[in-house]
Amino acid sequence: MWFLEFAFLTLSLVFTPGVGVHVSIDRGGSPPDSSKIDRIIAALTPEEKISLLHGANYAGSENYAGYLTGVPRLGIPPLQLADGEAGINGVQDATAIPSQINVAATWSRLMAKTAGHVTGLEARLLKAGISLAPRVNLLRDPFDGSSWQSYSEDAYLNAQLGAEAVRGIQAEGTMANTKQIGPSSSGASGGDTNSQVDLQYQELMNLTVRGDFGFKGIVMSDWGATHSTAPSIEAGLNWEMGSAAYYTTPLYDDVYLYHNLSEIYVDRSLRQIFSTYDRFGLIGQNRTALDMVPNPLPQSVIEQSAAISFDIASRSGVLLKNDDEVLPLSKDISKLAVIGPAAFQYNHGAGFAERAYGIPSRLKSPLEAIQQITGNDHILTSNGVDVHGSIIPADCLVQDNGQHGLLRTDSAGKTSVDSQINFSGESALLGNSSYHWAGFFKANETGYYRISLHRRFPHVGGGLNNSDYLGVFYVHSFTVNGTEFDGFRLLGDGGARPWSSPLAAPDGWDEVGTDVYLTAGLHNITVSVTKVFGDPVEVRLNWVTPTQREQNMRDAERIVSSVEVPVVFAHANSPADVGMQLIHGFDELITRIAAINPRTVVVLNNADPVLMPWLDQVSSVLWMGNPGQEGGRATASLLFGDRNPQGRLTITYPKSVNDTVTRNPKYPERMATKNGTAIFSEGINSAYRWYLATNTSVLFPFGYGLSYTSFKYSKLVIKKKSGSTFQVSVDIKNTGSRPGVEVPQIYIGPPEDAGSKFPGYQFAISTLVGFDDVYIMPGTTKTASFIISERQLSFWRQSDRTWVLAHGQRSVWVGTDAEKKVFVSYIEV
Ligand SMILES: *[C@@H]1O[C@H](CO)[C@@H](O)[C@H](O)[C@H]1NC(C)=O
Ligand SMILES: *[C@@H]1O[C@H](CO)[C@@H](O)[C@H](O)[C@H]1NC(C)=O
Ligand SMILES: *[C@@H]1O[C@H](CO)[C@@H](O)[C@H](O)[C@H]1NC(C)=O
Ligand SMILES: *[C@@H]1O[C@H](CO)[C@@H](O)[C@H](O)[C@H]1NC(C)=O
Ligand SMILES: *[C@@H]1O[C@H](CO)[C@@H](O)[C@H](O)[C@H]1NC(C)=O
Ligand SMILES: *[C@@H]1O[C@H](CO)[C@@H](O)[C@H](O)[C@H]1NC(C)=O
Ligand SMILES: *[C@@H]1O[C@H](CO)[C@@H](O)[C@H](O)[C@H]1NC(C)=O
Ligand SMILES: *[C@@H]1O[C@H](CO)[C@@H](O)[C@H](O)[C@H]1NC(C)=O
Ligand SMILES: *[C@@H]1O[C@H](CO)[C@@H](O)[C@H](O)[C@H]1NC(C)=O
Ligand SMILES: *[C@@H]1O[C@H](CO)[C@@H](O)[C@H](O)[C@H]1NC(C)=O
Ligand SMILES: *[C@@H]1O[C@H](CO)[C@@H](O)[C@H](O)[C@H]1NC(C)=O
Ligand SMILES: *[C@@H]1O[C@H](CO)[C@@H](O)[C@H](O)[C@H]1NC(C)=O
Repeated sequence: MWFLEFAFLTLSLVFTPGVGVHVSIDRGGSPPDSSKIDRIIAALTPEEKISLLHGANYAGSENYAGYLTGVPRLGIPPLQLADGEAGINGVQDATAIPSQINVAATWSRLMAKTAGHVTGLEARLLKAGISLAPRVNLLRDPFDGSSWQSYSEDAYLNAQLGAEAVRGIQAEGTMANTKQIGPSSSGASGGDTNSQVDLQYQELMNLTVRGDFGFKGIVMSDWGATHSTAPSIEAGLNWEMGSAAYYTTPLYDDVYLYHNLSEIYVDRSLRQIFSTYDRFGLIGQNRTALDMVPNPLPQSVIEQSAAISFDIASRSGVLLKNDDEVLPLSKDISKLAVIGPAAFQYNHGAGFAERAYGIPSRLKSPLEAIQQITGNDHILTSNGVDVHGSIIPADCLVQDNGQHGLLRTDSAGKTSVDSQINFSGESALLGNSSYHWAGFFKANETGYYRISLHRRFPHVGGGLNNSDYLGVFYVHSFTVNGTEFDGFRLLGDGGARPWSSPLAAPDGWDEVGTDVYLTAGLHNITVSVTKVFGDPVEVRLNWVTPTQREQNMRDAERIVSSVEVPVVFAHANSPADVGMQLIHGFDELITRIAAINPRTVVVLNNADPVLMPWLDQVSSVLWMGNPGQEGGRATASLLFGDRNPQGRLTITYPKSVNDTVTRNPKYPERMATKNGTAIFSEGINSAYRWYLATNTSVLFPFGYGLSYTSFKYSKLVIKKKSGSTFQVSVDIKNTGSRPGVEVPQIYIGPPEDAGSKFPGYQFAISTLVGFDDVYIMPGTTKTASFIISERQLSFWRQSDRTWVLAHGQRSVWVGTDAEKKVFVSYIEV
């Protein structure tokens, strides 16, 4: 929701029940009462009308992302809009449910819906009327940092899961927000007026959303992403969100002062808004500001949400490799080593603030859960990698003039010299200022340094009055010889929470940082902390030296030679650690440990795919993603076999950055270039299709995942039903000794001779059209059955905006992933 870095032109949709092609809502409710709505619109003053069309600042908005004023005299309540995709982000503690990428990895519609119920229920109890979830965007660029808050790289999977999430959220009386639609252009940052972009999004909103989708709900802009007044409202944008600039005085003036924009558009917009409100029973609810203040969640809800989150998290683990059945581990394993910082602390994984922080008493580390499950207190442990380090000593910081320390300049232009960046307690830096330090960093050895900036708000804690902290907003930067390092550019809301970074420092400080290779000598550095407003802040600048880094790895190596199995936790934080390399030296750590003990198990906490240069050397890899507050327990339950992994990847893991659709050096046009235009020259063969179409072998394909049991497929049957609908069924037997879930996947190929029969149209080399998660007891067989609909066999004809059935022969196959075909057959459409 925060707009500084990601102010792309995107729109968001609030789906109303019963409308929309992709999402149909099963929440009942009578159709809106249009005469009631007409009466309200007639009674509204011009000022009131305009006030209902844009987001507002509200000091009491409990740190939610957005607020909409109401008109109490007419029974229109104010509303709060809460992030995010992994639980409700506000002042009160809320359940940190697994991230969307984890929910998707279950391949379970029921889990997506259940996650939606938790979100909808907690939003309602915490007085947020709108949950800004789910996000259904395709993961076209596999490492842009948004994987954690997305479902997958496949449209069908996203649509199926997103629709269930919406149903779950709305069943609890909370409005869901399916996002985001719109041209995303890095040139279109908040505040720019860009007529070309405006035209694109008018067409998208008017023709696609309102026209093709038949969408009758509310369309809102992303925060800071509205770029015009008249064109936006004419096209059907209902709400300008963020610090509104167009749907405020400019809209009022056009309609009521200059009379060059018809009030019809304002009234049409209000009618859409009120119809949606009415379906949710909001009209006539006379909420006051006090009614918007959330109480803590009741214990029963906390427990229920925790149980659901554990279930989803444990179903989401993907077993990527398991040689010699090293997993599951025996509970009476006598010699086990647990390595890696994410094993000893709760790891949020996902960056920014668009998710819940979790119920504090439930934030267990994987190690605690392992100790609990095994009853073993004698597990050997080592950090292996230290991401937090210690304060950079004064003798390593030098000014231009050769004196010790760094030169500090604040936003009033006042300068002073600090021997170290270490401001805590009494020396906390005052609020309402920015701070910039400049000078030289004296590296006394050559190698990888970890440099990290830590911060803490001394007066901030959970569940407080947040008006002082509302909007506390930071941008950090760190440069060496003028080059900025990305890791520092992570912003945190800081907000009403003590920390917002994915993996807080062990003492609770927030942390952002980077790994940088430095030669011995002097390096020109700058450090900036930009503060928008708020209370004093504690700041420190830490490092891990090459010597310390080596020492940490040796400590880990020392303990693993004598154990039966080393379990190494490696994490990557989104969106700070973008790129496909695990940073922090995890690749080196895993390689060194596996060289000593080949029965190494790697647990991965990442969302964007990573390369695994050590894959051949380790015995097992368990992907746990960003599993939320119950992730530690879920990880332990899978490692020790209380649960059998059922997760399947929802994004391809390529073998090289250069193999990907977007970073392939042969196609530079595919990433937004300086002019802000990205060309999707891959056409429809994106994601797993790209690797298939180019015969590129991958590390792990889309849909891949192992189990502690085994399955055998038989009896593929395809029947033509009414029209051109086909029923596909297949028998699956659990041939192993544990109960388990198999995820059969149905794919179709392009029509035969598509090139000559449908000139000018591109058909995908492979398309997922069906999937299921099937629980099967050992020795038993279940029949999985799927429907391939006419729509799935049709293509979109833009000239008359219609779906056309593609007649002809098509291949259909059952796969265990995007590459492994179990049976292939053909249908005649
Ligand atoms: C809502 O409450 C306010 C303040 O108590 C009152 O003035 C107003 O008339 C009420 N509106 C309705 C529709 O009941
Ligand atoms: C599209 O825009 C035109 C012009 O503003 C408007 O008349 C029409 O109703 C819009 N269509 C939809 C589906 O909103
Ligand atoms: C209406 O007129 C005002 C004042 O000239 C101008 O700023 C605004 O852009 C106009 N709006 C439209 C929709 O033409
Ligand atoms: C940092 O500052 C605190 C309090 O001002 C002080 O107690 C501590 O020793 C300092 N740390 C270092 C490494 O200088
Ligand atoms: C900081 O700025 C805010 C908003 O302008 C103001 O309310 C607050 O009093 C200021 N705080 C300090 C410490 O100056
Ligand atoms: C570099 O300086 C740090 C901190 O003063 C010290 O711990 C480390 O041993 C030094 N390294 C070398 C190679 O001198
Ligand atoms: C929150 O603000 C209210 C009103 O100003 C005050 O009565 C209350 O004590 C505050 N609570 C906390 C935890 O500071
Ligand atoms: C250090 O780098 C900054 C830009 O990052 C530059 O403005 C400054 O002049 C440099 N200082 C010296 C002494 O080279
Ligand atoms: C920064 O510049 C100095 C002086 O030119 C050079 O010695 C050093 O290697 C540079 N550091 C980096 C990280 O490029
Ligand atoms: C990726 O492509 C770039 C540009 O052609 C090349 O410099 C780089 O070495 C390639 N990387 C890999 C891992 O092949
Ligand atoms: C922007 O750059 C791309 C790739 O370099 C190019 O294909 C495209 O034509 C450019 N677009 C504009 C509007 O200049
Ligand atoms: C991929 O392999 C298939 C089968 O071997 C072949 O027909 C096709 O031409 C290849 N495609 C590319 C892009 O190399």
